[in-house]
Amino acid sequence: MFNVKSLLWSMALVGCLQFSCTAQEPKTEELPAPTRSGGKPIMEAFNNRHTERKFLNDKQIPKQILSNLLWATWGVNRDDGRHTAPTAKNNQEIEVYVAKADGLWRYDPANNALVLFQAGDARLGRFKEAPVMFYYVAPDNDHWAPMHVGSLYQNAGLYCASVGLGNVVLGSVDKEINAKYTFPKGWVAIAAQAFGWPEGTKRIDPSKMPKNPGRGPAIPSGVDIKK
Ligand SMILES: Cc1cc2nc3c(=O)[nH]c(=O)nc-3n(C[C@H](O)[C@H](O)[C@H](O)COP(=O)(O)O)c2cc1C
Repeated sequence: MFNVKSLLWSMALVGCLQFSCTAQEPKTEELPAPTRSGGKPIMEAFNNRHTERKFLNDKQIPKQILSNLLWATWGVNRDDGRHTAPTAKNNQEIEVYVAKADGLWRYDPANNALVLFQAGDARLGRFKEAPVMFYYVAPDNDHWAPMHVGSLYQNAGLYCASVGLGNVVLGSVDKEINAKYTFPKGWVAIAAQAFGWPEGTKRIDPSKMPKNPGRGPAIPSGVDIKK
């Protein structure tokens, strides 16, 4: 005979199982607290900033360096939740996704952690020798998004210059990333940046630089700066 009570219990059990599946917390990787002091003086970092496209194979980026890099790029640097980069009207509509050999992770700046978005090697084919890539993700057709991305990749590039890490900004891989991943809420990848230890260094010795390289005298002759 049709037993209403057992049917209800079965439905409740299925509901519970479904709920426990959907409510499952995504895998999270905690990052060590970022080192928020030290490094090269800012002018030396500007002096060292440059693009690298060839990285040492198999040389990983230590977790502490990754944490510092993420914090420099888009970390929270004030108690009110604001970041190391500015955003229009403080809308904070930009996310950093971290592509590694073990998956694509979303950087959670408030908790200084990585949240697994999708498992599997997330780096782009021709940048597999770079241990880490960042995908800069923002709302589709957002007027401000490219400006926000520019601030973030410059922060990242300056941190790299400070510690001798190589990096290249990649502006033409957005279609490839968006074909591979569906980001939430209509957000899309705008650009990427690959990171790794450079095959060779291209340091410029500041003492050997001309005072105003290629730009002539800082103050043209005949100009009175006191006026
Ligand atoms: C918005 C943007 C997009 C870029 N896209 C690429 C790219 O798709 N591939 C690449 O190899 N380099 C790319 N670059 C790196 C530039 O080629 C590099 O910054 C430029 O040659 C100047 O070199 P420098 O960074 O050493 O000053 C990009 C840079 C920017 C700012």
